[in-house]
Amino acid sequence: MKKLVVSSGAGISAESGMMTYRDAGGLWDKYPVMQVASAEGFAADPSLIHQFYSNMRQKMQATVQPNAAHLGLVDLERDFDVHIITQNVDDLHERAGSSHVLHLHGELMKVRSMRHPERVYQLPCDQLTDKGLVTTVDTRDPYGDPVRPHIVFFGESVPEFEPAAQLVQQADILVVIGTSLVVYPAAALIQYAPSKAQIYYIDPNPASVPSRVHVIAKKATEGVAELAKLLREGQ
Ligand code: APR
Repeated sequence: MKKLVVSSGAGISAESGMMTYRDAGGLWDKYPVMQVASAEGFAADPSLIHQFYSNMRQKMQATVQPNAAHLGLVDLERDFDVHIITQNVDDLHERAGSSHVLHLHGELMKVRSMRHPERVYQLPCDQLTDKGLVTTVDTRDPYGDPVRPHIVFFGESVPEFEPAAQLVQQADILVVIGTSLVVYPAAALIQYAPSKAQIYYIDPNPASVPSRVHVIAKKATEGVAELAKLLREGQ
């Protein structure tokens, strides 16, 4: 089976009702990104950050479902060895049923100990003093330690980048979906594709990419369907 590696961004979750970050009306229009998604912001006002991600978790769980693009990637597992690398912190790829998902920027539904970062807790978690999706500066883990969102803040390292780059280096096919390709190191992944790999980029408003990339300038749901057809015809 050919190895098909996907690199997804906020755009793949747009049709599920999740706001993207940089489209008009996106998250970073509403919230000062360096206040709610940076290491400095967390140090300055941890309560605001807990509230920001707690609100996002509640919205996620209550109203957001995987869409046809997420499901289309699961369906491709019938014919390809599919590995997902995502910049997204939502769990829509997992809820759609993807077998291999690697989160570059962390996971919204997880928090971790501030004293022992290897202690990660999947929410809702009855081991924590707050049992649901909401966490605060007073939330404690079973060892009495405070917790923080298991999110990579701006200014922090991206520990999963190395494994992600190695995945892309093994790809026969690389599919980039719904990302503005402005945030590094995630945006650099495309450069790790082997010279023989086919590269596709699905985005209704695509950023500029090398000419070898096959651009499908459509929304993710339509683009993934078109891609599946192309790949199966070409098999
Ligand atoms: N289908 C596919 N792509 C879409 C759709 C859609 N329905 N709607 C919008 N897009 C595209 C936009 O054209 C844009 O290229 O999704 C992309 C969204 O770009 P960003 O909002 O910048 O999101 P992303 O690239 O994932 O941001 C990267 O920045 O703020 C950080 O950590 C955060 O992971 C995030 C990172």
